[in-house]
Amino acid sequence: MSMKAFKLLLMGAVSMTVMGLASTSLAGGEGEQTFKAKKCADCHATSGPSKIASIEDWEKKKGPDLWFAGSKFNAEWLEKWLASPTPIRGVKWNTLEPNTEKHAALAGKEGHEVTEYLMSLKDKDVAAGAANLGVAKPQAKILFEKKQACYACHQVKGGGKTLGGISGPTFVGAKDRLNPDFVAAYLKNSGKYDPKGKMPNFSYLTDADAAALAGYTKFLE
Ligand code: HEC
Ligand code: HEC
Repeated sequence: MSMKAFKLLLMGAVSMTVMGLASTSLAGGEGEQTFKAKKCADCHATSGPSKIASIEDWEKKKGPDLWFAGSKFNAEWLEKWLASPTPIRGVKWNTLEPNTEKHAALAGKEGHEVTEYLMSLKDKDVAAGAANLGVAKPQAKILFEKKQACYACHQVKGGGKTLGGISGPTFVGAKDRLNPDFVAAYLKNSGKYDPKGKMPNFSYLTDADAAALAGYTKFLE
């Protein structure tokens, strides 16, 4: 090898290492440190699959798992929510009382970096394109409100009012919060994301119905 070729090779190796380091920190290095320093990890799991194997394990859980956060949330919503959190679940964690909890807030640079970190946590089973984004609103609404009665546990807006049960996370604003492809994956296998959780098993849904219900997310303002 000529000296010139060797130098080029060396330069390439050095710049790749530098780029490698830079992309690690972009993918969440700082955010991951803040997440730990702020004790977020006391209540949230950031690596999967879930280790919850019994109701007793589930009852000890202090907050929802975040190891698939990057596949579940929209980054813009997540950053805003962290800066100024409002209740998502209708009931207080692990209780049947209305949720009036104040969640820890994280704004500015820290909020941005933690958002980047959480958005880097992806789940391979959330397939891009799984939700039917072309679904017609009336058809999906019938599925959601009548055939499957999702709104028995998830609040939605209708006719200027908020309707529905509070035992699950609210779907008011779900359009901005959730990735519809995650909703499709969740419906087909909720036990993977929340083992022993209180969401009924809907894995019997046809792929077409699951995709339509997932697509309905984009109408939930
Ligand atoms: C004392 C336990 C606890 C701590 C500490 C905590 N959280 Fe939470 N977190 C919760 C609970 C409970 C919820 C559910 C709130 C709701 O549904 O309204 C939640 C919800 C969330 C959500 C939305 C998840 C979802 O699936 O809806 C995110 C994101 C989040 N927390 C991030 C953080 C970050 C970042 C920190 C550190 C600054 C943190 N949490 C600290 C208990 C905690
Ligand atoms: C018997 C009550 C109940 C019914 C009916 C129900 N869900 Fe749920 N669902 C829940 C609960 C409880 C959770 C929360 C799990 C948790 O706290 O992480 C949940 C979570 C979810 C999530 C994850 C969203 C998030 O913010 O964490 C999606 C998506 C979802 N449900 C969709 C549906 C759809 C679509 C239907 C109708 C086919 C439906 N659910 C019917 C109780 C229900």
